[in-house]
Amino acid sequence: RTGRRPLVAGNWKMNGTRASIPVVEAIRDGLSPDLASGIDALICPPSTLIGSCVAATYGSSVAIGGQNLHARPSGAFTGSISAEMLADLGAKYVIVGHSERRAYHHETDDGVHAKALGARRAGLCGIICVGETIEEREQGRALDIVRAQLAIGLPKGATSADTVIAYEPVWAIGSGRTPTPKDIAEVHASLREMLDKLAGDEAGRIRILYGGSVKPGNAREILSVDNVDGALVGGASLVAEDFLGICAAY
Ligand code: G3P
Repeated sequence: RTGRRPLVAGNWKMNGTRASIPVVEAIRDGLSPDLASGIDALICPPSTLIGSCVAATYGSSVAIGGQNLHARPSGAFTGSISAEMLADLGAKYVIVGHSERRAYHHETDDGVHAKALGARRAGLCGIICVGETIEEREQGRALDIVRAQLAIGLPKGATSADTVIAYEPVWAIGSGRTPTPKDIAEVHASLREMLDKLAGDEAGRIRILYGGSVKPGNAREILSVDNVDGALVGGASLVAEDFLGICAAY
């Protein structure tokens, strides 16, 4: 309909050990060929599991991604991981500027921009996250906030191959609360309009995901909102049936 292929992405956050590999195997096996032909499925496990998740999904329609990266390709940055290292493991995507990184690791929009460039340099698709806090929404500033985050975070010349946008209202993450479909539509339309300004002809091909308390029970309603091209799923991506239930909303 939009020409944009839906993306259902799971963010495991700091959850999972080798004992969680069967979850990714169950997602791999549960994604029917019919469904897999219509959507992209992605799991972003902790870095420690990327290699084994890539091995477990090799040749399947489930892609594996990172949750964060350092902007530089290499160097004296103890504890950090570059886009090149993620790509070397077989990751195809990386989440950039998740609100938890912004809140707990002081990531700025300029830092997000640098990381998105790093992702592109290594051939990864960066999932650039934007979203307002509850205070910002109550002050009527949600649109201004997400538009500014996108304007600064998005590198020039972004394409659908190197960029996905994810709108995650901070107050909806892990809370069981979601914006109304009308509110989601308003933000996504505004982000799409902004993308048109920033990315020219390519804008119409760049996907905009919604994230924040997406579950099998609300997926159909959320994923059918205009300009919602998929979901970024936290908690529900840790349970194969729930993640598959969200995919099945398509
Ligand atoms: O990145 C996905 C995430 O922040 C949403 O988490 O648990 O509300 O689906 P959750």
